[in-house]
Parts: sequence; structure tokens; C-alpha cells
Amino acid sequence: MQQTPHINPTGPIANTVLMPGDPLRAKFIAETFLDDARQFNQVRGMLGYTGTYQGVQVSVMGSGMGIPSISLYAHELIHVYGVKNIIRVGSCGALQEDLDLYDVVVAASASTDSHFITQYDLPGTWAPTASWDLLEGVYAQSRKAEVPIRVGNILSSDVFYNFDETVNARWAKMGVLAVEMESAGLYAVAAQAGARALGVFTVSDNLVTDQHTSASERQSAFTKMIELTLPVAAK
Ligand code: ADE
Repeated sequence: MQQTPHINPTGPIANTVLMPGDPLRAKFIAETFLDDARQFNQVRGMLGYTGTYQGVQVSVMGSGMGIPSISLYAHELIHVYGVKNIIRVGSCGALQEDLDLYDVVVAASASTDSHFITQYDLPGTWAPTASWDLLEGVYAQSRKAEVPIRVGNILSSDVFYNFDETVNARWAKMGVLAVEMESAGLYAVAAQAGARALGVFTVSDNLVTDQHTSASERQSAFTKMIELTLPVAAK
């Protein structure tokens, strides 16, 4: 199979790819939730696996952190390997007081402080938006599994350690639920290519109440999110 600067596939890549930020999370998801998982990428340690879930082929691959990283992997997966659906599964920092640690947030839209979207040279402000098909699938799954989710606008930020401490509150005032660092770039790459994308997150920190999770607690909370997304990935 064709090689790209960042992917050298040693096996098939499915139409749908789940993308956690951490490549070791990709390994964990593949080994825990997929049948017959085989590694297909290890370039730069960005591990990717393909296996089956309920008999349907699904891939899972790390995205790295930030819009530059996820956007280059999404571009290569979609344009070179024909991937149709990418579901980011990650963590987020809550910007609203009423979001608890481990709550699941789904990004219907992703505001951003990144300049990534200026490359499309649009005569206005393009709104990074999730694929309705994927969003509706996760929502249906959440009802079925009786796992509540919060659906809304999130912030994909280039900045983890803010110099200006007032910025989070300003986004929160506009109703933004949480902050992460990738989805707006993923939504743009997918939209431009006619592919589908969605971001699903577990709240790992609440930046209003200053609550934080531990690494071991995050692992089990993560499972809840994977169980909501894998049935959609395998559709
Ligand atoms: N992901 C989890 N917590 C975050 C935060 N505080 N900022 C950006 N991304 C995050």
C-alpha cells in the first residue's frame, strides 16, 4: 500500500477510524475492544491498528496533540487511504460549572483560536461542524445505553497554558462547554474532503471548579466513551 510522510501501512485501514490523541490509548482500545487487531502503522510511534467490532472492520490510530498533528493524519487517512469517517475520542477541560468530571461531551461544533481555517480563504467565518450522521448515531447509542451526554459547542485551542487567564471565561460566556485542542481542524479537513467527523470527549478537568482526574480514574471513564462510539464506528 502507498506510503505517506506519516503513515506506512503494513495492513488494511478501515473506512472508519477512531482517533484518541495518545497512540498508547489507540493500542489499548485495539487490544481491549477489537477482535483480531493488527498494527498497521508505527511511523513516529503513532500507532494504528485495524480489527473488527461486532464483525465490522474498524481502525484506531493516535492523532497526536493539537490541530497541526490531527489535521495531517486526517488528511492522509482521507485523501490517500480513502477513510470516510473519523471519530476523535479524547479528553477535555470543562468550561461550565455544571459539567462533572467524567461527563461525556460531544462537539456539535468546534470554535477555535487557531488560524488553520484561514487557508480556505473564505469570505467570512466558517463554522466547524460535526457530521450529523455520526452525532445522531452517538446520541442514539447514549439513549440506548442510558449514558447521558452533553452536546454543544466546544473550543479547539492552540494554547494549553494560557498567559491570559480570562480567555476561558470569555468562551464560556458564549456557551462553549469545554476546551480541547484538535476537533476544529479535524472538522475542517473532513468537510473540505466530503468525509464525516465527530469529536467525543470525557471531562478530565473542570477549569471552573478546579477539579482534576487521576490517570487511573481516566482509564475507566474512557471506557464509557468508547462503548458509545464503537457501535457507531461499526455501522
Ligand atoms: N484536554 C483536557 N484538559 C484540557 C485543557 N485544560 N485544555 C485543553 N485541552 C484539554
